[in-house]
Amino acid sequence: MSLISKIRCAFTLGQGLLIENKTLTTTNDPISFFKQWLSEAENSGIILPESMSLATCTAEGRPSSRVVLLKEADQKGFVFFTNYGSHKATELEANPYAALLFHWNMLQRQVRIEGRIERISHEESNAYFQSRGRGSRIGAWASHQSEELVDRQTLVERVKYFEQKFAGKEVPLPEFWGGYRVIPERIEFWQGKADRLHDRFVYQPSEGGWKVKRLNP
Ligand SMILES: Cc1cc2nc3c(=O)[nH]c(=O)nc-3n(C[C@H](O)[C@H](O)[C@H](O)COP(=O)(O)O)c2cc1C
Repeated sequence: MSLISKIRCAFTLGQGLLIENKTLTTTNDPISFFKQWLSEAENSGIILPESMSLATCTAEGRPSSRVVLLKEADQKGFVFFTNYGSHKATELEANPYAALLFHWNMLQRQVRIEGRIERISHEESNAYFQSRGRGSRIGAWASHQSEELVDRQTLVERVKYFEQKFAGKEVPLPEFWGGYRVIPERIEFWQGKADRLHDRFVYQPSEGGWKVKRLNP
């Protein structure tokens, strides 16, 4: 950790989120609260603050996790993109529930999101896919994500193959690639405080809105 990061950490340790229950109930919108925290994480200089751990489970309940990037957060849910044939996607198709975890260490903050998962529409996936650089779009075609790769050269050859195949053309969205949306059933905000007396607030859907409660640290 660089000196500047250490200084930032020392300054933020145990501070922030002096939120009274009353304020949370009045705001009652965990999505805009989340976006506020994400933008504070962006402004704090954290690299890739939109990276999050994604936990999935097999149908038998065996968990696995990995990091993916959050690409969208709104009232409908939290969206990330991946290969629909990957290990994570295979688990999500068999057991459509996921948990997301953000940890912004410099701010002493953690956000946990849990919920059901659904594929986003083809149109939404296409819009995002076409916004990516050409290299990333070719890469999506070339990678059989999570399958064994004999050697790196094989991947390089596949990249070349798709570069030629799509030369002078738009790179279309592969049918095996797209987004998933986590529809939140629980969103927890955690703010580190002095003496391990951290603040924790959990939101859960209720009567078309959200109910919020404070948890013990
Ligand atoms: C910072 C970071 C961001 C990543 N973003 C994504 C992503 O948005 N989508 C994705 O499929 N994989 C992403 N990955 C790679 C995944 O962590 C993982 O290796 C890959 O998706 C295969 O996972 P699986 O075999 O469990 O399906 C990212 C990795 C890191 C470290």
